[in-house]
Amino acid sequence: MKIPALQAVTVEILVDNFFDVFEPSRPGIVERVVPGRLKKPLLAAHGLAYLITLNRRGKLSRILMDAANSPLPLFNNLEALEHDVNDIDAVALSHGHPDHYGGLFEFLAKRTGGPIPVYLHKDVFLPKILITPRGRIGPWVLSLAQLVVANVELNENLGPQLVLDQALLTGTVETTTGYEKPLPGFRRQVAGQEEQDLFPDEQALVAVVEGRGLVVIGGCSHPGIVNMVKYAQKLTGINKVSLVLGGFHLTPHGDEVIQHTIQGLREINPELIMAGHCTGFKALTKLAVAFPDNFMVSCVGTKVMVVGG
Ligand SMILES: [Fe+2]
Ligand SMILES: [Fe+2]
Repeated sequence: MKIPALQAVTVEILVDNFFDVFEPSRPGIVERVVPGRLKKPLLAAHGLAYLITLNRRGKLSRILMDAANSPLPLFNNLEALEHDVNDIDAVALSHGHPDHYGGLFEFLAKRTGGPIPVYLHKDVFLPKILITPRGRIGPWVLSLAQLVVANVELNENLGPQLVLDQALLTGTVETTTGYEKPLPGFRRQVAGQEEQDLFPDEQALVAVVEGRGLVVIGGCSHPGIVNMVKYAQKLTGINKVSLVLGGFHLTPHGDEVIQHTIQGLREINPELIMAGHCTGFKALTKLAVAFPDNFMVSCVGTKVMVVGG
């Protein structure tokens, strides 16, 4: 599938689980915030929201990928980082878990002007349930009826679709690794029947940067981050990967899967791996040890820049 090569992609981490003032920057590649210079303090939360800026020959398009777990961190951090909701051109949803759409309706309500394109997989509207060692949680439902009346231009997909004609949402991820399997505690309801959730609704956002290759951005990466990157490579026909970013949902899968994933990422050999959100502390530490030169932790306020050349 052909997508245009962009001049640059910038991702600003609006909401994520972490903030650590001691995490280093890399000039021109990864810029961390200086908290004392911000208008107000940032909030970390168990949720995800990225502000992705695509630069195509100098024309900038801004995509909000995911809308955090609630309006509180989303609006606090948009304000702290001095962004206006009306400067955002489109919304993309990684999957149908509430820590990724918790601030969506409030975001849409705050905008003024015409409908905003919203890109999501058809299955995000199915009720989601989580069975944990501490009991059953959910169902959570993202309401299609509520979204339809929220001044949006709805773009639902099953397979790959373009976002603003500049980036790609993969659609249902083809799983090829064998070791990346969603945990049985994730459930969903289809026509009133409960079943294991294999996350057909989860998709990566993929952009191509001139001379740099792929930028692959995941939400929770429930289908497996290696599966997601491999599928992005297959869809675009481009193997070179400059950035892999997302929550990797790894710690609960155990040491063996973590090791396989590290090996899978090693084979892909991205220039930079940045993980946060649901990756889990143990997996983060193992990734940090495995990739001493090209792994960084995703923190709120961090800006990652992939510039063509
Ligand atoms: Fe999540
Ligand atoms: Fe999730």
